[in-house]
Amino acid sequence: MEPTFHIREIPIYGDLILAPMDGYSDLPFRSLCRELGSAMSYTEFVNVDELRGKKGGSRKAKNKLRYTEAERPVSYQIYGHDIDRLIETGVRLEGQGRPDIIDINMGCYVKKISERGAGAGMIRFPERIARLISTLSNDLEIPVTAKIRIGWDEDMLNYMDTVRVLEDSGASLIAVHGRTRAQGYKGLADWDAIAEIKQAVSVPVLGNGDVTTVADIERVKAHTGVDGVMIGRGAIGNPWIFSRKDREDVSFEEKVTMMRKHLALNLDFYGERGGLILFRKHVAKYIQGSKSEPSLRIPLLTAEKVEDFVRILADHEAAMGRLDRDARDAFLAEFTDREPVVA
Ligand SMILES: Cc1cc2nc3c(=O)[nH]c(=O)nc-3n(C[C@H](O)[C@H](O)[C@H](O)COP(=O)(O)O)c2cc1C
Repeated sequence: MEPTFHIREIPIYGDLILAPMDGYSDLPFRSLCRELGSAMSYTEFVNVDELRGKKGGSRKAKNKLRYTEAERPVSYQIYGHDIDRLIETGVRLEGQGRPDIIDINMGCYVKKISERGAGAGMIRFPERIARLISTLSNDLEIPVTAKIRIGWDEDMLNYMDTVRVLEDSGASLIAVHGRTRAQGYKGLADWDAIAEIKQAVSVPVLGNGDVTTVADIERVKAHTGVDGVMIGRGAIGNPWIFSRKDREDVSFEEKVTMMRKHLALNLDFYGERGGLILFRKHVAKYIQGSKSEPSLRIPLLTAEKVEDFVRILADHEAAMGRLDRDARDAFLAEFTDREPVVA
């Protein structure tokens, strides 16, 4: 199979990629999306200040950087306001975690991050971007990339300057969320701006923003000519989007099977209690819009124990005539006999 595009020398097979999402794009969810067709993995963003200290940072921050070999190519996404600290952390992580790529978050709009000059705050200071990206691309063996928004606000739509600086400084790919920092998630993503960027640079461009259906994928590609499409919120509850399947085209049985698999991965990664609690927000999205949502939502989202969660699902399936008693008991045994794992 021919690669769809390259990030410097790294071949990327496929044109759909799960967006980095804090609280969502963790190892379990990334693995599922990667299996279904997401062409590479971006970690959740990690603050470089949480990766300091004797032990190399907090357990939570280090957990965000764990990945499986099957996920490669893996990009570590980091953020911070201090350029030297970003450089030092990028260099250290290359050796420690062996990612394939280091990505700099230049898109986070959260006030306390962006107003300090980190995340989307970086795009106000092209000279800082130039120093960061040129030093990192010099000092690292692996490619350096960036994920940006199109500007600070509508009076500072400086995306063309930003992408030229990125390219001239050695960035190997640019992912663009077509909104300004001021917009947050309001309004529509500006696909025209993404098209303009794609025309202007020779490094690959990923287009991002408001892609939730298969039709959207084809529309954004036709509109912008991007090398790949990055999908965030549209993948929550519908990882099948990476196999070009819309939410409505996935049967409830498939969703239940996926929920069991996702829950098992979560329990392995976060341990029994954390694994279930962190799974709830995914459950809400998996069942959203289904006929079973009204009866399942509260019981599933308030289940305190893994056994209870699995029993509710199995009983529901049995009631629908989709699960015989043996299969139901087998599912229950699979989850109740688990060894507790400490992540
Ligand atoms: C819950 C949540 C967490 C996010 N965390 C990150 C992050 O860690 N790094 C990042 O670059 N973008 C982050 N984003 C932005 C997404 O990557 C993406 O740019 C945005 O959601 C627009 O794409 P979408 O319309 O496909 O969701 C986050 C978005 C959401 C909704």
